[in-house]
Amino acid sequence: MSIEAPVVVEVGLGDRTYDILIGSGLLARAGAEIARRLPGTRAAVVTDANVAAAHLDALKASLETGGIQTAVITLPPGEKTKSFAHLEEVVDGVLAAKLERGDIVIAFGGGVIGDLAGFAAGIVRRGMNFVQIPTSLLAQVDSSVGGKTGINSPRGKNLVGVFHQPKLVLADTGVLDTLPIREFRAGYAER
Ligand SMILES: NC(=O)c1ccc[n+]([C@@H]2O[C@H](COP(=O)([O-])OP(=O)(O)OC[C@H]3O[C@@H](n4cnc5c(N)ncnc54)[C@H](O)[C@@H]3O)[C@@H](O)[C@H]2O)c1
Repeated sequence: MSIEAPVVVEVGLGDRTYDILIGSGLLARAGAEIARRLPGTRAAVVTDANVAAAHLDALKASLETGGIQTAVITLPPGEKTKSFAHLEEVVDGVLAAKLERGDIVIAFGGGVIGDLAGFAAGIVRRGMNFVQIPTSLLAQVDSSVGGKTGINSPRGKNLVGVFHQPKLVLADTGVLDTLPIREFRAGYAER
């Protein structure tokens, strides 16, 4: 893994302005980057089983280095996870970890995890801090930016959600090494 200086893109939204950091090796500095912007906070990491197997240990070590206490909520991979049932699981996990409004929900996964965790962050305690660490190509180039969050309803896709902007997006291009080629290709055009 090479560690290079990340590209920083500022998304200018007045008092909701946030940075997108793009580069290889960013997971290793995630704890420091988050702690610098949101000092003294604790976090719930929401992820899926595939991403957890490949990268969760690295993220946990990085958050620990930044002094960020972390609870982890690991969900099954796949579009079906964007459901009311899993939203309830995430909300309950965040509350069980006794996180406060100023604490952070970290979405660590593809677009499914980003949309679901972002929605949970938007509604728990009427809106918690939210950090996106997108791990699929689609999530890095599209879904992690812009603040669109939500889940699917039995009546259709993406029908329930809120706009909730992240405080920071960390796009580590190195994590794409473990992305299955089919998912990599899907990142070029949304299914
Ligand atoms: N909010 C928005 O603006 C927006 C925009 C476009 C799409 N979306 C949503 O994004 C979702 C699709 O996102 P997606 O294509 O990332 O799907 P996804 O989150 O299901 O990820 C695809 C698969 O890749 C795996 N994966 C992800 N990162 C990995 C990694 N680094 N290593 C190994 N495996 C990895 C996941 O476990 C999953 O099996 C849809 O629900 C869509 O509605 C949202």
